[in-house]
Amino acid sequence: MKFFVDTADIKQIEGLIPTGFVDGVTTNPSLIAKQGTNMKETIQAICSLVDGPVSAEVTAIDHDTVLKEGEYLASFAKNVVVKVPLTPEGLKTCNKLREKEIMVNVTLCFSAAQAILAAKAGANFVSPFVGRLDDIGEKGMDLIEDIVIIYDNYDFDTEVLVASVRTTQHVIEAALIGAQVATLPPKIIHELYNHQLTDKGLKSFLDDWAKTGQSILPK
Ligand code: E4P
Repeated sequence: MKFFVDTADIKQIEGLIPTGFVDGVTTNPSLIAKQGTNMKETIQAICSLVDGPVSAEVTAIDHDTVLKEGEYLASFAKNVVVKVPLTPEGLKTCNKLREKEIMVNVTLCFSAAQAILAAKAGANFVSPFVGRLDDIGEKGMDLIEDIVIIYDNYDFDTEVLVASVRTTQHVIEAALIGAQVATLPPKIIHELYNHQLTDKGLKSFLDDWAKTGQSILPK
């Protein structure tokens, strides 16, 4: 399972790289706005830090402009993935960008029917938003399960990129289902390490070790 970091915060990404868990990055217009930084500079800086795919999202909604924006975003770095919305214009543009061998992430996916369209449009990634479905009383993970089954049935190459992740339980469930990627806010990556028994066990090992008066490395 690949982990992408869901942020446009360069400092957070820099901090996470040494963990070895950053397989890629996803951004969106809201995340860029939150940073208050220049979009092009931010995407280029992220692409220079991370070898894996870095999603940068278009903000136009008509095909011609989405295509122009997508080509422009893709020119920033070789690992840019153009994020287009799951709309008729977005999917039409997905087809065109894929013909030009530009990587595409189809975002704002909320149904299995939409996910089928994204795969048929040749998307490299589809981003179903589990947290936002949970927010309206649906079970976001049911959608992940459906998409993974459907893509498997037809050997679609599109990777399921679980987005809008709010809890470590989302990550566990996505992994159990077999989704290829989860994009995680930095906070969730840090939370994945946690278990009270790890803290308790470590404390007791260190307390017992201190009683021996020994040190592993020669003094
Ligand atoms: C990632 O590609 C999405 O834009 C992001 O995960 C959305 O998350 P949110 O629902 O927490 O805004």
